[in-house]
Amino acid sequence: MPKTYFLTTPIYYINDRPHIGHAYTTIVADVIARFQRLTGAEVFFATGTDENSQKSVDAAQKAGATDIQQYIDGMAAQWEATWRELDLTFSDFIRTTHSRHLTAVREFFRRVEAKGDIYEGEYVGLYCTGCEAFYRTSDLNEAGECPLHRRKPEMIREKNYFFRLTKYRDALLAYIEAHPEFIQPTSRRNEIINYITNHLEDVSISRQSQKWGIPVPGDESQVLYVWFDALINYISVIGFGTDDAQFKKFWPAQVQLVGKDIIKFHCALWPAMLMAADIAIPERVFAHGFFTIDGQKMSKSLGNVVDPVTTAQKYTKDALRYFLLREITFGEDGDFSLQKLETRYNDELGNALGNLVSRVVVMQHKFSAGVIPVCGVPAPDFEATWTHYRDAMERFDFTAALSTIWDHVHAANRMITEEKPWELAKAGDERLGTVLYLLADTLMHVAYMLLPIMPETAAKMLEQLGCGAPGATWGEDIDRAHIASGQRVGESHILFPKIGE
Ligand code: MSP
Repeated sequence: MPKTYFLTTPIYYINDRPHIGHAYTTIVADVIARFQRLTGAEVFFATGTDENSQKSVDAAQKAGATDIQQYIDGMAAQWEATWRELDLTFSDFIRTTHSRHLTAVREFFRRVEAKGDIYEGEYVGLYCTGCEAFYRTSDLNEAGECPLHRRKPEMIREKNYFFRLTKYRDALLAYIEAHPEFIQPTSRRNEIINYITNHLEDVSISRQSQKWGIPVPGDESQVLYVWFDALINYISVIGFGTDDAQFKKFWPAQVQLVGKDIIKFHCALWPAMLMAADIAIPERVFAHGFFTIDGQKMSKSLGNVVDPVTTAQKYTKDALRYFLLREITFGEDGDFSLQKLETRYNDELGNALGNLVSRVVVMQHKFSAGVIPVCGVPAPDFEATWTHYRDAMERFDFTAALSTIWDHVHAANRMITEEKPWELAKAGDERLGTVLYLLADTLMHVAYMLLPIMPETAAKMLEQLGCGAPGATWGEDIDRAHIASGQRVGESHILFPKIGE
C-alpha cells in the first residue's frame, strides 16, 4: 500500500477574483503535491471556495446580481478555472454550498452537540464582516476600526449557539506540547500557546441576523457561523459523512497550509472542534507569511493587485512558481515585484539555467554527434544531493531545495568555463567525452529535482537530454541513476526567451 498524503489550502472567499496572494498558497500546495506524488505517495490535494459568508451576499448585491447562488456559481467557476489555467493539480474542489458539504456539517454538528459542547446564549459584540470575526475593543485601532479593513465593526446583540471552546484549553495545550511539529513554522507556536492560555473564550457559532448560510440543525432561524462551517470543508472534501472509506483513507491530513492571518482558527478552534467530534487532528498546520507588492499592501484602491494568470502568461507558469519560492522564504513575510521577477527570470532562469541547458545540448550535437558520450571516470553520485533536497522539500524549505539544485547549475556552468570543451575538441583531447557526459548527467538530476517545482521546464530539459518523458514517480534508484551513454539527445530549444529588452 503506498503511503497517502493529504494536503489542503484554505478555501477562498468568492467575493473577489483570485490574486497573487491566493495563488501563492495554492501554487505551494501544488509543489508539495507533485513532490509527494513523485516519491510514490497517493496524494489528495484539496482546495475550494468558502461561500456561506455575508461577503458573498454583499458582493452579489454590489454586482447587481439578483440570484445569489447564481452569482456564487459564476465566481466559484472563475476560481477553479484560474487554478486550472495555472496547471495546479488539485484532486478535488470543495464548495461550501455543495450538498456533500452540507451533509458533513450536519453530521459534525450532531456529534458535537451530542457531546454537550454546544449551548445557547446571548452574544453582544463588535463584529467585522470583512474578517467574519468578533473583536475586543483592545484589538481595534485608535479610530475604533478593524485594523485590517479600516472600518468600524458593527455592534451585534443576538441569541446564538456557542461552542464550548474553553473546555478544550488544557487538551489543546497538551496536544501542542506533545506534537511539536503540529504548528509550523515553530516561531508561530508561542503566539498560539499564548492565545490559548490567555485569550480563549467560547465562540458563538451561529448568526441570527444573517440569512445566507447553512441553517443550524434543529433551529432553522439561525445560520452557522462561517468559520465553523468552513473549517469542516477539510473533511467534507474527502468524504466525511458521505464516503467513509475515502475519509478513513486520507484523514488526518499531513499538512494544512494557511496564511498567518488565519492560524488561530486552524490551530485552536479547528483542533478543538475535531476533539469534540472525536476526530483525529491534522499532523501539521503550516502558516506562511504575507507579502506586499513593491513594498505596499496589495489593494484594489492602490491598483496594485497582481493577477496570477496574466503574470504566468507573460513570464511562464514555471517562472512564476520559481520566483514565488525563491524570492519569499516560505513561512516569512516578503515582497513581490514584477521587476524582481523579471531580473530573476533573466539572470537565474534565462542565463544560469536556460543557457546552460542549451549550451550542453548544442555541444552534444556538435562534438558528439548528438549522442551522450562514454564517461572516462567514475561519475560522481548524487545521493547526498538528493538527501539534502528531499529533506528540504519535506520541511517546506524551498529556499534550501532550490539552492541545492542551483549549486549544481552553477557547478556545471563553472565546469564549462574551466574545461572549455571547444578547446578540448580542437585539441582532440579525450577528456571531452567525460566533460560532456558529466554536464549532461548533472542536468538530468537537476531536471528530475525540478519536476515538482517547474514541471514544464523539467520535462523540456529531460526531452532535450533524450531522457524521454518523466515517469509518474522518480523510482527508487533515482539517487544513484546516471544518464545513459549512447543515448541520443533531442533538439535544443530556448527555455526562457529574454524578456524586457
Ligand atoms: N475563507 C477564509 C479561509 C477559510 S479556510 C477554512 C479566508 N479566505 S481568503 O480568501 O481571505 O484567503 C485567505 C488566504 O489567502 C490566506 O490565508 C493566505 O493563504 C492567502 N493570501 C491572501 N492574501 C495574501 C497575501 N498578500 N500574501 C500571501 N498570502 C495571502 O481567509
